[in-house]
Amino acid sequence: MFTMEALLVLIAASIIFLLVFQASRRNSKPKPGNIPPGDMGWPIVGETLMFLKPSLSTTVGDFMEQHMARFGKIFLSNLFGRPIVVSAEPELNRFMFKNDTKMFEPGWPKSFSDIAGKSSISFLVGDALKHMRSNIVEFLSTERIRNLFLQDMEYMASFVMSSWKDDTLISSLDEATKVNNHVTQVRYRHEKASNSPCFENFQFSFYIMVKNILSIEPEDPLIERLLKEYNTFTRGLVSFPLKIPGTRYWKGLKSRRILLEILYQETEERRIASGDKGGSKKKDDFLGWVIRNTDYSLEKIGDMMLHTLFAAHDTSSRAICLMIYFLDNCPKAIAELKEEFAGVITSKQQSGGSKLTYEDYKSMNFTQSVISETLRLGNIVSHIQRKLSTDIHFKGFLIPKGYHFVAHFSAVHLDPELFEDPQRFDPWRWLIGSSCGLKKRSSSEFMPFGGGARYCPGAEIARLEMAVFLHHLVRNYDWAVAEPDCPMTAPFVDFYKGLPIRVRRLTN
Ligand SMILES: *[C@@H]1O[C@H](CO)[C@@H](O)[C@H](O)[C@H]1NC(C)=O
Ligand SMILES: *[C@@H]1O[C@H](CO)[C@@H](O)[C@H](O)[C@H]1NC(C)=O
Repeated sequence: MFTMEALLVLIAASIIFLLVFQASRRNSKPKPGNIPPGDMGWPIVGETLMFLKPSLSTTVGDFMEQHMARFGKIFLSNLFGRPIVVSAEPELNRFMFKNDTKMFEPGWPKSFSDIAGKSSISFLVGDALKHMRSNIVEFLSTERIRNLFLQDMEYMASFVMSSWKDDTLISSLDEATKVNNHVTQVRYRHEKASNSPCFENFQFSFYIMVKNILSIEPEDPLIERLLKEYNTFTRGLVSFPLKIPGTRYWKGLKSRRILLEILYQETEERRIASGDKGGSKKKDDFLGWVIRNTDYSLEKIGDMMLHTLFAAHDTSSRAICLMIYFLDNCPKAIAELKEEFAGVITSKQQSGGSKLTYEDYKSMNFTQSVISETLRLGNIVSHIQRKLSTDIHFKGFLIPKGYHFVAHFSAVHLDPELFEDPQRFDPWRWLIGSSCGLKKRSSSEFMPFGGGARYCPGAEIARLEMAVFLHHLVRNYDWAVAEPDCPMTAPFVDFYKGLPIRVRRLTN
């Protein structure tokens, strides 16, 4: 009897609790002070799990789709245990970038700064940010990009592709050039079994960056070791921050220490050498530049180099992979690229040159369109996060100081009001009708490289890398994706199988 009554009371209580809970959730729509409408989800976890659920990078994902349908383009949520306003509104995102350092601060959790390094540029604010950024921008002069970087890219593209054998399976992400078919297969099985997203090295962009940051050539044995540690480090960067032996985060921290040791040693050696006028250690690379032009501590230089390597290499390799993926389904675009490249080569032969120049790159409007469309549809960085350092009023909404903020780029890049049929890979949308001129787009509608005080200083290098790789690939190879694979936002874009492709060298 007792149990029966108790059970009834319990059931009734649960029902009342659920009703109240549901009501309170529904009531969260209008807020005092006009905070954007939204759903705070469950206590503490909020809506984090839904937000983190991997989705195709060419879609906005369930979380954004459902919330935008219910609340519009600016809404409140509860992610990672704190209130957060998510914006898919181009104007608000622009507002954020315009006022980034004045009204916002980096909103990264400590677990991320532990592995990325607290002196890495992502965590700097104010003058320290300005100073480090201007160092990077000055190093990346137009001169350097046009000449040194372009030369290296041309060389590395040939170097990487020279070892491709006809009909072997290669992974677009894991550009294992020295690995034969058999070993590649084994690696895939291993990757699948361990269920780790196959983000390995993409040697092309890694070689370019290591050369320009540390003057290490692709033939140097040290590069294999760097690559290995570096991959473990980046996997840790995007992992769940569990500091327990064996986790990806733990391994990432360990690799971070090893990489820093190598960087510290190199920095020290160069500093000693520069005491006696540089000697053999005076090198025209990013590390040398920072040593000569700043008084940064060893720790700061280490974080800066690691971050630059990550930002510069990781994102470009994913972008190139996306480009291969999209083009695989679009033979018409490949035909048009071939035509454009052939035109450039013919005019070069007439003028006696053979190497691709910066002017050639700039003149290739269809290539430029393929790159823009890849960045729009592929969404390498789907969103960024900040924390508000002051109240913000925007179009009648209040976003209070202390709240976090997400500027969602993919939701803008995939907005049907801005891009017709947004899920279609359509490079021609970037061209003006039949004249083949490039269409100007508002920077708030298209921000693959962010904006404002933190605009990616390597944007031009990334685009150039994509163009050079594409140029070499399309002119010399036929390729086909060998196993179905899709770009997933998890939370960085990733191909779970590494996008294996089969290549065949063209005879021309
Ligand atoms: C923030 O940025 C907008 C441009 O989007 C600008 O009009 C406004 O004045 C800025 N606000 C402050 C306080 O700097
Ligand atoms: C490429 O686009 C630019 C900018 O719109 C235009 O001035 C140029 O004529 C175009 N080039 C070609 C080859 O169509």
